[in-house]
Order: sequence, then structure tokens, then C-alpha cells
Amino acid sequence: MKEKAPKQPENQLSIEEMATFCKRKGFVYQNSEIYGSLAGFFDFGPLGVELKNNIKQHWWKTFVQSRDDIVGIDGSIITHPAVWKASGHVDSFTDILVECNKCKARHRADHLIEDKLGINTTGMSLDDLAKILKESPIKCPKCGNAALGEPKAFNLMFTTNIGPIETENSRAYLRPETAQVIFTDFRLVQENARLKLPFGIAQIGKAYRNEISPRDFLFRMREFEQMEIEYFTHPDSVNECPYLDEVLNHEIQILSEDMQKHNKEHVKMSIREALQKKIIKTTWHAYWLAKSHKWFTSLGAKLDNFRIRQHIPTELSHYALETWDLEYKFPFGWKELQGVANRTDYDLQQHIKHSGKDLSLFDEATKRKIIPHVVCEPSQGVERAFLVFMFDAYTYNPERDNIVLKLHPALAPFKVAVFPLVSNKDELVKKAKEVHDNLKPYFASFYDDSGSIGRRYARQDESGTPYCITIDFDTLNNDTVTIRDRDSTEQHRIKIKELRHKLEQLLSKETHFSDLKD
Ligand code: GAP
Repeated sequence: MKEKAPKQPENQLSIEEMATFCKRKGFVYQNSEIYGSLAGFFDFGPLGVELKNNIKQHWWKTFVQSRDDIVGIDGSIITHPAVWKASGHVDSFTDILVECNKCKARHRADHLIEDKLGINTTGMSLDDLAKILKESPIKCPKCGNAALGEPKAFNLMFTTNIGPIETENSRAYLRPETAQVIFTDFRLVQENARLKLPFGIAQIGKAYRNEISPRDFLFRMREFEQMEIEYFTHPDSVNECPYLDEVLNHEIQILSEDMQKHNKEHVKMSIREALQKKIIKTTWHAYWLAKSHKWFTSLGAKLDNFRIRQHIPTELSHYALETWDLEYKFPFGWKELQGVANRTDYDLQQHIKHSGKDLSLFDEATKRKIIPHVVCEPSQGVERAFLVFMFDAYTYNPERDNIVLKLHPALAPFKVAVFPLVSNKDELVKKAKEVHDNLKPYFASFYDDSGSIGRRYARQDESGTPYCITIDFDTLNNDTVTIRDRDSTEQHRIKIKELRHKLEQLLSKETHFSDLKD
């Protein structure tokens, strides 16, 4: 099946078309497809695993390795069950479900109301949803029966069992967020890394949520990955971000709580203006939201496909004082890409209370113990970022009649592909393999000698490979090759001995492709 191609930004691919494209190219597959698949679980294919790894590596490099104030950990997925009691997840990490009285299918109440009645359910309580369902009965989307049961809270944590005997005490949970391991390791990490406030602890890892209705491909999954930072500040200086200057002139589309209350559209303004007008209240929120937006756009995502939206009070998680989401304009509407919550000292206090351990820090200045505050927790799903980069890279070129996946070179699964012009000339094949082997230690390089040269270029355009190298008959005489640019299809000849250096310059964007002409 050939995917429908977007001719203009408003007309981007549907999420289903993106899923089809991802499967055809080997980016993402449904898990266990040969057994009929399992909703909410996906596997990443040869191109997908490279893109996903590149996203995680780039995030880690930007937010951990390039900074002196943030260190990383890699925690366990299963933790002591008491962690989730203390964090509030056992009691409060729920969505509202309704069950069909006839076929017993279970549906997420807010999604059902949004889909069938077009009502925005953001921040609605169980009672609000029950009232709407009572006043406007909805039929079961699976069997068409009109009798749906009473809505009830459903805990999203997956349970498992530790050890050979199943008892109430052996029950454990797969972590629904990576954050809690950061809190439970907080004192050890602070001591080992000799961190001084303000500082952050970051983690990339799997999280599990037994979503009632996983949907929209990678957007709402049951197993996914998070890239999270818990950023700790002194409780007396929760509004003093020393890095604010870096982002003051940055412009972003903003939808505040007040704008939502008055049914207004988002407004584009600078971070400086948003702080001056007290639309964003804390400098840390302003800083982290702008940093995240800049991270996406530095990797090729489109500036105006993002906005930040403040949570309305009824929507806040049980631990949050204030939350802003970085949202992206998905084909199915503006949706959360990253949450940036002010968790205050809620989590550390809860773990102090439940574990009986001292998780305070000693403040040399005031000679007293303090509990740091997490004013900002930038928390992002890897797969949602994956979708953003895929949507913003996907273009259809009518003149070439092919799809060009304009991924940023840092994210592209392969940086370069090497072809012999024809595959039935041994000297060309030998030389092309030699060039490919010499590039491999430095760049993710792909070798291809099957099909016409035009088809090979088209395949690499669809895979997002920024540069293709062709070995032709001139190569055998003068040791030069053609290098072709994915986005412009421009070609230049360069010497093989300069290839590595030129590719390094092109991939790091130090050199523009057209400069190779000289
Ligand atoms: N520690 C805070 C936390 O977990 P969250 O808003 O529930 O906050 C953070 O999740 C991010 O994780 C979201 O912004 C989203 O990118 C990603 N995420 C959450 N649930 C997801 C799901 N079911 N499928 C894919 N990504 C998800």
C-alpha cells in the first residue's frame, strides 16, 4: 500500500498511515503479530531501533553529559512495592472505565465521551463523567449495546509476583514511571556525585501502564520508555533559575489556564514576556519548557507544531502543584508530548514518612536540614518524541514521486549509503565494498547493490539517509565518487580520501552541501 502523502502541513499523514509507513520501512511493528498482536505493545525494527537509540543518545548528551548539574542513573523496573504505596500510585494512579453489561468490553470513560459526544473531558472527575454518561447514554463501541455499567476507577499499574509462592506479600508492580527510582536513590546519588543544589537526576528507561484503551499507534502504549529529569532546588529558592538568560528571547505558543477558562486560542510570545505578564510563574518552568522546545527544534522538528499548555487545577496529578505540558499538533489534535510538573517536596516527604529514612540534605549556610523541592520534572515519552520526528520529517515530493524522510542527520538511522553504479561489474562492487568498509567504523553506513540506481536512491530517501555515495567508472580512474544530498538531490564529485572528513562536516552541519562544489 502506498501511503497518502501530505501536500501541505495541515494535511499531514493520519496516525494509521504513519503506522503503515513505519511497518513497511522496518521502523515499527505490532508486537506478536503472528499470534494476532497484543494491543499497546510494539517492536522496533532495524531502522526504528537506530532512530530510537539516536533520540535517546542525543537527549542524554544534551541533558546529562553536556551539563555539570545533572547526573544519570539506570534503575530497576521492579522495586519494593512500598515505593508505590508511598508515592500514591497504589491509591491514586487511576483512569475511569465503563464496562459494557452485555459483551463486558471495557472502555475509558473520558475517551468514549470525547469520541462520541465531542466533549472536552480535561480535568473531569468520576462524578462528572458519570453524570454525562447518565444524561447522554452512549452505546458500547464494540457490540452496540446501550447498557453500559457505572463508571469506576481502574488502577493502571501492572502487577507481578516475586518468588515462587504467590501471596498477598509477594505482589509487586512494574514501574508506571521512572521517577520514583530517582527519589528512592536520591541520597546515594547526591552523596556519590557530590551534588550541590540546584541539581538534577536523569533516567531513561521502560515504564508500564495497563492503559484501558491503548490507541493512536505509539501515542498511548502499555509498555513505553520515558526520559525523565527530577530537578531539585533549595526550598527557599524555588524560583531562582541561574540559566534563565539562555531562554528569555525564545518564542513559543502558550495556552495558559486562564486562556482555557475563557476559551481563547494559544498565543505566541517570548519567555521574557510570559514571565513579565506572570503567565508562567516560575523561572524554572520557563527554563525547562523552552529548553525542551529548543531540543526538539534543534533536531529538525517544526517550531509551530508545538505549544505549552498549563494544566487546569482539576487535571493535576495527585503529586503536582502546577504542571505545564509541552504539546505537539498530532493529526488527532494537540496532545501531551512532555509533562513538566512541580512536584514540590511531595515525593521525598512521602518516602521519608514511609521508609523512616532521613532523605534531607544539610544546608551549610543556615546549618539546618532541608528537604529539596522538585519545582520541575521534565518527563517525556521516547515513543512520542519518535512520532514527532517522523511526522515532521515525512514529506512527499511530487516531482520525484517519492517519500523523502528529512530526518536530522543526528537522528537518521543510516548516515550514508554506498552503491556501485551497477552490480554486474566486479571492480565497481569491490571498490564500493571497500569504501563502505572504510566508512563503517565512523558512520552508520549501508551498502546496497540491488535494483536500479534510481530505486536505491529512492529507498534511502524513504529511510532518511542524508547522503548516498556512488562508485562509477570514473572512480576506477581517479579515485573520486559522487555524493548525493537526500533533500536537494544535488550531486558533487569528491575524492575518496576526503570522504570521511567531508561527511563529518556535512553531518555536523559545519559545511553546507552546495559548498562541496568548490
Ligand atoms: N513522572 C511523571 C510522569 O510519568 P506522565 O505525564 O504520566 O508523567 C510522562 O508521563 C510522559 O510519558 C508523557 O508526557 C508521555 O510522553 C509519556 N507517556 C505517558 N503515558 C504514556 C503511554 N501510555 N504511552 C506512551 N507514552 C506515554
